[in-house]
Amino acid sequence: MFTIKKVDAALGATVENLDLTAPLQETDIAELKWALAEYQVLFFRDQDISYRNHQEFGIAFGSLQRHPSYPAIDEFPEIMILENDRENPSKIDEWHTDMSFKAMPPLGSILIGRVVPDNRGDTMFSNLAAAYEDLPGSLKRSLEGMTATHSFAYGFKESIAEPGGRERLKDAINNNPDVVHPVIRTHPVTGRKLIFLNRLFTRKIDGLSERKSNDLLNSLCDHMVQDKYVYRFNWRKNSIAFWDNRSVLHVPVNDYWPALRRMERVTINDTLAPA
Ligand SMILES: [Fe+2]
Repeated sequence: MFTIKKVDAALGATVENLDLTAPLQETDIAELKWALAEYQVLFFRDQDISYRNHQEFGIAFGSLQRHPSYPAIDEFPEIMILENDRENPSKIDEWHTDMSFKAMPPLGSILIGRVVPDNRGDTMFSNLAAAYEDLPGSLKRSLEGMTATHSFAYGFKESIAEPGGRERLKDAINNNPDVVHPVIRTHPVTGRKLIFLNRLFTRKIDGLSERKSNDLLNSLCDHMVQDKYVYRFNWRKNSIAFWDNRSVLHVPVNDYWPALRRMERVTINDTLAPA
């Protein structure tokens, strides 16, 4: 039987003595589903898994989706490649929820480090339920019922602005019109409320002037990523991070250029829209 150990931080747990090259039992999947909701991000070390193992691990938690703009493994189009090097530095440097520009954003993402620069390129995660709990009562009440607009075109504005970018991303832009999500959502498993905003994809808070929307968004986004809500994960080759995309923000630390960093991700569909 594997063990789950909470890390000494606001969120996260390590899963030990579980071999992901072997099929998971139903009871294992149920335990991991519970742990994912409870600890918000699960870490695994030394998992020398195949593409098929990665795909099957994801499918144990739901159907897999494809990303509208990232490259993927030819035979496994659900396995997205995140590869950065001297010619292609990382462009993601904002805290975010994966694909919150979708009407039904992913339940979770399972990311494996394949080529990892020594002690660089960490990923940071923040606990959005703890960030919500600490808000003053008056702010909690005023945020209740508010909505925000999330946007693919806003999140990928730098890529769109590159030469040929708008043409290259035309289908992705057309297939992903802006969506509206509640500012405060309730986690469907834990019942905890949390702040569902992120600086990468949230274009605005609805019903406010541009200035008021920017001010509120900035102050909440700053609040959510204070050290007390954050855990910083140090990658090694074949480490895996499996995060609950419903309740965490994450961001890569882009301190490794021009070294090569290659990660692969499967992204699990949710069956419930944020509410
Ligand atoms: Fe991400």
